[in-house]
Amino acid sequence: MSYYAGIDVGSLTAEAVLIDKDRNIAAYAILPTGNNSQKAGTDAFRTALGQAGLAEADVSRVFSTGYSRARVLQAEDSKTEIACHAKGAFYFFPHVGTIIDIGGQDSKAILVGKEGRVINFAMNDKCAAGTGRFLEVMAGALDVPLDKMDDLALGSKEELTISSTCTVFAESEVVSLISQGKAPADICLAVSRAIARRTAGLVTRVGVADSLVMTGGVAKNRAVVKILSKDVGHLIKVPKEPQIIGALGAALFAREENGR
Ligand SMILES: Nc1ncnc2c1ncn2[C@@H]1O[C@H](COP(=O)(O)OP(=O)(O)OP(=O)(O)O)[C@@H](O)[C@H]1O
Ligand SMILES: [Mg+2]
Repeated sequence: MSYYAGIDVGSLTAEAVLIDKDRNIAAYAILPTGNNSQKAGTDAFRTALGQAGLAEADVSRVFSTGYSRARVLQAEDSKTEIACHAKGAFYFFPHVGTIIDIGGQDSKAILVGKEGRVINFAMNDKCAAGTGRFLEVMAGALDVPLDKMDDLALGSKEELTISSTCTVFAESEVVSLISQGKAPADICLAVSRAIARRTAGLVTRVGVADSLVMTGGVAKNRAVVKILSKDVGHLIKVPKEPQIIGALGAALFAREENGR
């Protein structure tokens, strides 16, 4: 049987997704990129193969995507993250119009038309504000696990504001709020609102469609998704595993372009 693979090596995480010839997901893996992006891609690929009980020879074609897509040894070709997130989001949500991908290093808003084809996009890749990195820095300052920030934020009782856009200045604000004895829950909500505010600007720039989907690691923060939904005036849907959407898109391209 023929399988296809997509490998997304991002600034923080590397994912591999295996699909069969009928586009069913056979297995996936998510690993930290670490300091060797080539190895991270290979490890993610091998981990997914192991999970599916497959060998490399069972895979007909591999495409890569992500920040380090050119360094993926197994890939025959690569696609941009924009195209892959659009393709992957469309797989789960065929009515999707606007996709928001927030990873560790950049954030993007993508407007798609029929068949998940990209019409327009906007991205912020010059600074950490509004990215996963921002969330990580604030989690560190608060000494709260990243995956607990949303639960805390959603239980907030007092509205606080972080006014700096810059991550470094915003971290100082967080430290100052901590020293004033403010509750971590309220600070977490303020952090989520800061990311949402920044992202809403990107989304408005590319266009708010009726159906919005969020991908990338930050989509795992339910507080950010909830506030952003309110800010853009539409409910934002999140796939069950938002971090694999880019790799899934690359696997779907590999399957489509097989036998070119
Ligand atoms: N459980 C979680 N809860 C909240 N945020 C999370 C969680 N897991 C990961 N993240 C966030 O996701 C980010 C990483 O996202 P992702 O894996 O999409 O990045 P990436 O693709 O490597 O980066 P980029 O696309 O910018 O190169 C982390 O910075 C972190 O803030
Ligand atoms: Mg990414």
